[in-house]
Amino acid sequence: MDLLKKFNKEKSVNNERLSTETNIKDVSLEWLAKTYRYRYPYNFSWLGVPIIQYPQDIMAMQEIIWSVQPDLIIETGIAHGGSLLFYASMLELLGGDRRVIGVDINLKKHNRDIIEAHPHSQRISMVEGSSSSEQVFKEVEYLARGRKKILVCLDSSHAHAHVLKELELYSPFVSQGSYLVVFDTLVEILPDTFFEKRSWSKGDNPYSAVQEFLKTNTDFEVDTKIDQKLLITANPQGYLKRIN
Ligand SMILES: C[S@@+](CC[C@H](N)C(=O)[O-])C[C@H]1O[C@@H](n2cnc3c(N)ncnc32)[C@H](O)[C@@H]1O
Repeated sequence: MDLLKKFNKEKSVNNERLSTETNIKDVSLEWLAKTYRYRYPYNFSWLGVPIIQYPQDIMAMQEIIWSVQPDLIIETGIAHGGSLLFYASMLELLGGDRRVIGVDINLKKHNRDIIEAHPHSQRISMVEGSSSSEQVFKEVEYLARGRKKILVCLDSSHAHAHVLKELELYSPFVSQGSYLVVFDTLVEILPDTFFEKRSWSKGDNPYSAVQEFLKTNTDFEVDTKIDQKLLITANPQGYLKRIN
C-alpha cells in the first residue's frame, strides 16, 4: 500500500473510532450552542471580507471544490460576500473558465462595491432578488447555460418553505458527483430562543426542508462522512451528494 493510501486508511479508521467516542456528539453540540450565542461564525473573513461560517465548513467546501472541480458554483445568500469570494478564489486557483453566481434579496451597495473591487470579482455574477422567485431563477438559468459541473450552496432565508422551494428549483443544476450544500441545518438542534427575531425554528428550517426533499428525491444522499469528520458544523446532514 502506498503511503498516501495508508494515511487515508488510518484517517477513516480514526474517524470511525472518534464517532463512537462517548458523548462526542453531545460535547460538539454543546460547543456549537455556546459559541453560536456569541455569533462565533461572524468572527472570520476571507481575503479581507466577512464570511459568516464555521471554519470547519469552509475546509469541507475547499475539499468538495477540489474533488468536484466545478465550472460553476451557485450560492444563494451573499451577505457581505466573503463566501462568494471564497468560491471565486478557489475557482481562480483551479484556473480556466469557471464562474460563481451569487443571489441575494438585499444586496447592499457597500457590499456590492467591495465585491466588485476585489481581485477575484471577474469570476462573479450577482443577481438581486429572492432566490425562490421565478424571475431570479430564470436569470440564474440563463447565466448557467453551457456549464457542466455545477455545485449549489443554499445559504439565504432559513425558513422551511423557502429552502424547500430552493431545493426544488436549484437541485436540477447539480451535476452527478457534485454537491447541493444546505447551510444552517443546525437550527433544528439549537434552542428556539436563539432565533427569536427570525422566522425559523425547530421543524421550520433548512434541516426540515432537507428531510422533506429527500422523501421524494432519490438523486441525492447525505454525505455522512463529512458530518462524521467535521463534528463541528453548521450544516449537519446538509452536505447532499448527487448520486444519480
Ligand atoms: C446567512 S447570510 C449569508 C451568509 C454568506 N453566505 C456567508 O457565508 O458569508 C443570509 C443572506 O441571505 C439573504 N436572503 C434572505 N432571504 C433571501 C431570499 N429570499 N432570497 C435570497 N437571499 C435572501 C440575506 O439578505 C442575507 O444576506
